[in-house]
Amino acid sequence: MSSSSDSSTLSPSAEAAIIFTIVVLIVKVIIVIAICIKRANARNESLAPDARFLTLTMDKFLSDMEREKPIRFTSQQLRIATDNFTNLLGSGGFGAVYKGIFTNGTVVAVKVLYGISDKRVEEQFMAEVSTIGRVHHFNLVRLYGFCFERNLRALVYEYMRNGSLDEYLFRENKNLDFTRLHEIAVGTARGIAYLHEECQQRIVHYDIKPGNILLDPNFTPKVADFGLAKLCNRENTHITMTGGRGTPGYAAPELWMPFPITHKCDVYSFGMLLFEIVGRRRNVDNRLPDSESQEWFPRTVWKRFECGEIGDLINECGIEEKDKEVAERMFKVALLCVQERPQLRPLMGVVVKMLEGALEIPTPSNPFQYMMSGIPCPVIPSHTTQTSSFPSSDSSLMPYSSFVRGTPIMTRYEIELASSA
Ligand SMILES: Nc1ncnc2c1ncn2[C@@H]1O[C@H](COP(=O)(O)OP(=O)(O)O)[C@@H](O)[C@H]1O
Ligand SMILES: [Mg+2]
Repeated sequence: MSSSSDSSTLSPSAEAAIIFTIVVLIVKVIIVIAICIKRANARNESLAPDARFLTLTMDKFLSDMEREKPIRFTSQQLRIATDNFTNLLGSGGFGAVYKGIFTNGTVVAVKVLYGISDKRVEEQFMAEVSTIGRVHHFNLVRLYGFCFERNLRALVYEYMRNGSLDEYLFRENKNLDFTRLHEIAVGTARGIAYLHEECQQRIVHYDIKPGNILLDPNFTPKVADFGLAKLCNRENTHITMTGGRGTPGYAAPELWMPFPITHKCDVYSFGMLLFEIVGRRRNVDNRLPDSESQEWFPRTVWKRFECGEIGDLINECGIEEKDKEVAERMFKVALLCVQERPQLRPLMGVVVKMLEGALEIPTPSNPFQYMMSGIPCPVIPSHTTQTSSFPSSDSSLMPYSSFVRGTPIMTRYEIELASSA
């Protein structure tokens, strides 16, 4: 009996050893489980819904950028990138532009369009997305993507560190040497020539002006703001519009009159820009000291050219002797570009060659004859209001609005929405 009872019971020390081993095992299992749970939580925390979505979007953003396809962002993503729209770069007729940075380090300019349900804003938005999104050129600003939500409509552009050309032409403290200015003129002309002559569908910009020429870190010009661009098939050489477009001082006369509008209206605006580049002044500037310099600069250029004094004018513009020949070339090209009759204006591809000196420049005829024959001058002496679109009800800005009103409404341009995230 005693022997069977001995075999079924353990000594107290053996019992204690077994209990200790079991406790240690249980503790180890608990620790391992706790570590696993903690790791799983940490992983979940780092990939919270938003962050996970953002990471996915960023991956897509990078791959879409490689494929050169614009991406659709949410308003929350743009809010994060722009730090709740704090860093304002500037604002124009249709929106305010903010600097932003994505988690992958890409710096962007986010253009938030004014208004929410305004049809005009929506049209501009769709036009910009559909046009810029599909064209790529060294001298055109890149559209990375867009946001189209009820509470936010925005365009996401590549960021241009050196801002816009107007700051360098019209501000005392910022200066670019003449060679650089000439390069900017040629680059800008190349960008517009691409839009007109090399895109599958011709793109008319309608708002060429110094504020829409952006400069990258190397001062390479990039044409921006295709907001007023309309797509038109090559076959349709003429398009008619119901409202005035462009910016006073740069808009071609046919934009004010009941005449067909073609890509040549951009050539006119480029000519006006060219006068300002060479003169390093606004074409209309009431702040200049004497009445002679307050005169509309393009007309001064023509008058001096006509009486063989263009060299003197170039001197008065402060251009060095070594740059004189190029400056004269630029003035002559500008005079050709602003011819009243669109057919007499050169194509932008030809403008590039003439500016480069690769093509002989024909002698320009008086581009302002029509202004001397009693027809009101279509140039508005205003440099303070740089609006991109004329209010059609303002008769002082639209001297020909009654003519324009009768023209047929332009058919809605083709819109192809970019891919969504
Ligand atoms: N991609 C960009 N990079 C840097 N600055 C920009 C960019 N786009 C616009 N800006 C700045 O914002 C300003 C306002 O732009 P915008 O709204 O297009 O008005 P506008 O063309 O009428 O001047 C520009 O003059 C420029 O200084
Ligand atoms: Mg602009």
